[in-house]
Amino acid sequence: MNFFAEMVSYLQSNYQNYKVAIITNDTILSLYAEPFYRLLKSAKIAAELFSFPPGEQYKNRHTKEMIEDQMFFKAFGKDSVVVAMGGGVVTDIAGYVAATFCRGVPLVMIPTSLLAMVDASIGGKNGVDTPSGKNLIGTIYQPQKIIIDPKFLKSLPVAEFKNGIVEMIKHGAVLDADYFGFMEKNVENILRQDQKVVEQAIQESVRIKTAVVKEDEREKAKRHLLNFGHTYAHAMETLSNYSMGHGEAVAQGMLVESYMGMLLGKFPQSDFERLKKIVADYAIPLYFPNGIDAKKIQACMVYDKKALKNTPRFVLLKTIGEAYDFQGRYCEYIDESIITKAIQWMQDDLCCN
Ligand code: GLY
Repeated sequence: MNFFAEMVSYLQSNYQNYKVAIITNDTILSLYAEPFYRLLKSAKIAAELFSFPPGEQYKNRHTKEMIEDQMFFKAFGKDSVVVAMGGGVVTDIAGYVAATFCRGVPLVMIPTSLLAMVDASIGGKNGVDTPSGKNLIGTIYQPQKIIIDPKFLKSLPVAEFKNGIVEMIKHGAVLDADYFGFMEKNVENILRQDQKVVEQAIQESVRIKTAVVKEDEREKAKRHLLNFGHTYAHAMETLSNYSMGHGEAVAQGMLVESYMGMLLGKFPQSDFERLKKIVADYAIPLYFPNGIDAKKIQACMVYDKKALKNTPRFVLLKTIGEAYDFQGRYCEYIDESIITKAIQWMQDDLCCN
């Protein structure tokens, strides 16, 4: 890949005399990280590989600690640069390591999944999951560079590709009606990974997210919009012990949270139907794991980072492409009975078990 050669010359020009810590997972290791490591070595750049098993289950404090200890063991210090090569779990862990290792070292992101390209690598959020919930510990720490090459998507499993599609749909649903329309029109092109269309979709998605992050990097208000569907999704992922993919959970979350809006008379049914249709068109599987119910989901939602006084708050859509601005707040409390009703609708009417 030419792309790797460009990366080598970027590191040579910007991080001369640094040691490069390539953080990846065991799948990406042999596919891309080892070839990249060998190229760095042949360019006489000091580098080491740090890898952990794939899967959200490994996005935890233990994995972070293990990588940090291995880095110290291999004599990494303040003169290190972290290269995150992988999907969202890798970019979150590696970002968090970079943010705190020796109180912060430079970070370069090479996202290899669609979700990491359009969401996880953009905007500086990093973190780990805890038994109480997803992404509860972490920082906001911006990478020096993010390099996106859609060629990585060739090796991505379809289910992972769809996780990214859901975040792209979310960007359109909350912030850009034209982009939502583009995603509606290009279902076939995107699913068969037409290179031009996928590239355009990625570029637009990155543009939409970047604009919000620039306005509210520290997530004081507007950045909450990017959390549409996520109050429900994070609870579902936690309760399912991450057997549910992030995209599947967010797809349900967007539908549940907009169903609440519809019950409140705040979101038109026609727009709600468009959301339902796009999720079906992209064939995002909707299933409700056994042993989970509305009560458990609501109990878990109190740990959401938007919650105040242990009460969850939700992003509410006004129309496709626009969310409510409640006098500078972009998420709102919703009556418990409405939340229960919407979750039950998802469980009983939309999901197959
Ligand atoms: N994924 C949501 C955000 O970066 O704010």
